[in-house]
Amino acid sequence: MRIIAAVDSKDVGRKTANRIAAQVIVKPDSVLGLATGSSPLTTYAQLIEGCESGDVDYSRVSTINLDEYVGLSGEHDQSYRYFMNHNLFDHINVDKSRTNVPNGLAADSAAECARYDALIAAAGGTDLQLLGIGNNGHIGFNEPDETFTAATHVVELTEGTRQANARFFTSIDAVPTHAITMGMRGIMTSKCIVLIAMGVGKSQALYDSILGPVTPLIPASILQLHPNCTIIADEAALSLIREETGWTGETIEL
Ligand code: GLP
Repeated sequence: MRIIAAVDSKDVGRKTANRIAAQVIVKPDSVLGLATGSSPLTTYAQLIEGCESGDVDYSRVSTINLDEYVGLSGEHDQSYRYFMNHNLFDHINVDKSRTNVPNGLAADSAAECARYDALIAAAGGTDLQLLGIGNNGHIGFNEPDETFTAATHVVELTEGTRQANARFFTSIDAVPTHAITMGMRGIMTSKCIVLIAMGVGKSQALYDSILGPVTPLIPASILQLHPNCTIIADEAALSLIREETGWTGETIEL
């Protein structure tokens, strides 16, 4: 894994957006795997700037998002579809019909999961997958478990994850209990993975994911097995890794 240190969240956004822009410039019909949460916000702001300035053209890009809350429609202001429209898609020249987020209102969730996996397979995997990381090491909504789950699936959110995400809702009770998430096959078949992390709250999860054993108890640890995975993180998130390895530079391969 290649680790890139950034000074702060704005710097994470700049570095990550540059990587994504390079992908789209080199391959204008790229399939981008996208993520939600607060971590990608600075990245999306930079992507919008790059599009507005005419540097990057998204007209031929397709996108496949990681996850969606079960029970929320795309119009709900805490749904991930709404988040993506509001924070990125409405501001770049992407064709909305080529943007994909799981349908949280699907009556038949098994069929929705199968549809999503077929979509990923038809694309031959994403060209670049952007990931955040949960405090407990989750990626997408792949929560710690006894096994890794390959397929897109419905997951019961942990109490900790619901609490962490409650800041976006009126109360913890308003946070959905379940989500549809892309599974590890969808993530690991991406040609290139970029995981971003900011803040000291992510330092333990990042440490365990990069330096600990590969285990479904720390879902992001599976990324150690990916041939092309880059982590872009701020100093606070990297603090434990710096302490353990003695690394002081800007990039390192671990
Ligand atoms: C949610 C999302 C994840 C995201 C995580 C961290 O649970 N499903 O994809 O990585 O939150 O969010 P944040 O970036 O807000 O810390």
